[in-house]
Amino acid sequence: MNFKRVVVTGGAGFIGANYVHYALSAHPDWQIVVLDKLTYAGNLENLESVMNRIEFIQGDIANPVDARKALRGADAVLNFAAESHVDRSLLDPGAFVRTNVEGTLVLLEAARQEGVKRFLQVSTDEVYGDLHGTDHHSLETDPFRPRSPYSASKAGAEHLVFAHGISHGLDVVVTRGSNTYGPYQYPEKIIPLFITNALEDKPLPLYGDGSAVRDYMHAYDHASGIDLVLHRGGSGEAYNLGAREQISGVQVADAILAALGKPPSLKQFVTDRPGHDYRYSVDPAKAEALGWVRRYAFSEGLSETIRWYLQNRAWWQRVRAKKEHQSLMQTWYEGR
Ligand code: NAD
Ligand code: TYD
Repeated sequence: MNFKRVVVTGGAGFIGANYVHYALSAHPDWQIVVLDKLTYAGNLENLESVMNRIEFIQGDIANPVDARKALRGADAVLNFAAESHVDRSLLDPGAFVRTNVEGTLVLLEAARQEGVKRFLQVSTDEVYGDLHGTDHHSLETDPFRPRSPYSASKAGAEHLVFAHGISHGLDVVVTRGSNTYGPYQYPEKIIPLFITNALEDKPLPLYGDGSAVRDYMHAYDHASGIDLVLHRGGSGEAYNLGAREQISGVQVADAILAALGKPPSLKQFVTDRPGHDYRYSVDPAKAEALGWVRRYAFSEGLSETIRWYLQNRAWWQRVRAKKEHQSLMQTWYEGR
């Protein structure tokens, strides 16, 4: 499929910004419109180097006026915009339903009204729920068993996306990506939180015994997978995107501390996350069969990411100095 004018919602966030950078180099002729509300996680610095090559609209996907304005004349929309952090969804689930569920519905309606050719929903492997105690790798045909307000809201959004495909003939595709890391990631998810804490000689808080496992994938690979599914994915289909990695929290902490030359004593085992999912793992064979080839193994991707945080201290120091970050650190971690 060919596209000319493409809307990227949430393009000022972590994976959205990585996608915008990827798309501008893969499709230099594209007109890219970024629609982003600029919540605590949105940061225009992530797009600074390409601002003159894109159109930026500050707006809310859950606001029909903003959604229709952004989608006017567009061929495709990629919906990255979301509340994305599990711990925050335990503190304030309403925001997750508003953006992830209602916002996706408003965007679907706007896509239908504006005659957008293709709608790509950026979803997550967390919709499958916890695979702890099995050696199963989730398949696209597996049932949804979301267990956190975040994953429940993303599962709800997916149901609406597929329903719009069936009920209204909208051309929809869905990606279910695994845990992602790389440049521009807000320092609340484990990898950027641990890198920046370590750089400040602060403890690395491991939930429970730190044995929970994730399939960490570099943001470049997540972006290339999404782009491939946009172009080659079958209408009404979902595609898992993962790196075929199984890495525990303790392994993440050890790798970061070793790379930065910091002592293992910075590891601190803290009260577990309520409802903690102990294992996610997807089988990405369906996306690989479309021709998806990943660039990064974890060790190489992590070293490059650590280098990025070392070279971009001002970026994360500004983010960490803001009240939204400090209040998460206090409310969530203090006394844990
Ligand atoms: P992020 O939190 O870094 O960024 C989210 C972006 O969306 C921000 O720029 C924010 O300002 C914007 N946004 C939030 N609410 C909005 C609204 N109502 N209207 C417009 N913009 C809004 O998130 P991320 O980690 O980059 O995740 C992007 C997408 O990928 C999400 O849909 C998430 O569910 C999915 N995903 C993330 C991961 C991961 O590991 N981070 C893995 C798989 C899937
Ligand atoms: P996170 O990055 O929040 O992603 P998700 O929960 O959406 O998978 O967490 C990844 C893993 O790291 C998960 O098992 C929880 C664990 N974790 C910690 O041990 N300490 C932390 O401070 C955070 C944020 C996560």
